[in-house]
Amino acid sequence: MKFFIDTADLNEIREAARLGLIDGVTTNPSLVAKTGRKYLDVVREICEVVDGPISAEVLSTDYDGMMAEARAWAKVHRNVVVKLPLTLEGLRATRTCKQEGTRTNVTLCFSANQALLAAKAGASFISPFVGRLDDASEDGMNLIEDIVTIYKNYGFKTEVLVASVRHPVHVMQAALLGADVCTIPYKVIEQLAKHPLTDVGLAKFIEDSKKIPR
Ligand code: E4P
Repeated sequence: MKFFIDTADLNEIREAARLGLIDGVTTNPSLVAKTGRKYLDVVREICEVVDGPISAEVLSTDYDGMMAEARAWAKVHRNVVVKLPLTLEGLRATRTCKQEGTRTNVTLCFSANQALLAAKAGASFISPFVGRLDDASEDGMNLIEDIVTIYKNYGFKTEVLVASVRHPVHVMQAALLGADVCTIPYKVIEQLAKHPLTDVGLAKFIEDSKKIPR
């Protein structure tokens, strides 16, 4: 399973890249707004740090506006993947992007039928939001299971990118279900590596190592 980092914070992206833990980056308007910087400047800088798919979202909601933004994003860097909303207009733009050779990440997916439409439109990635479904008293991971099954049934090439990840259990469940990618906040990436028994065991090894004759 590929790991993307879900942030627009360059310090977090640099640190995760330094540790060799990430294969790509996802951003969205809410994440970029937190930086106080221009979206284009943030994406350009990310492209210098990470050599992998970098999702940059369109802000328009009509087809012509989305396509104008998609074409502009595609010119920024070969690694930019255009993020389009899962609406009828967004699906139409997804199909056009596919025809033009631009990779897409269809976002805000909350149902298996939406994911089926995105695959039929030729999306490179589908982003089901598991955390927001959990927040609404549904089980987000049921959706991942359904999408993985449907895509396998028909051999769709669209990659399942588990989004809205809130904790390490989401990551483990995504991997068990065979999702292609998980996009993970920096804090959760850190949590993945932690276990209290690792800390206790390491402290004991260091302590005992002092007894080894030198
Ligand atoms: C990433 O592509 C999504 O925009 C992001 O994972 C959404 O996460 P949130 O539900 O925590 O805002």
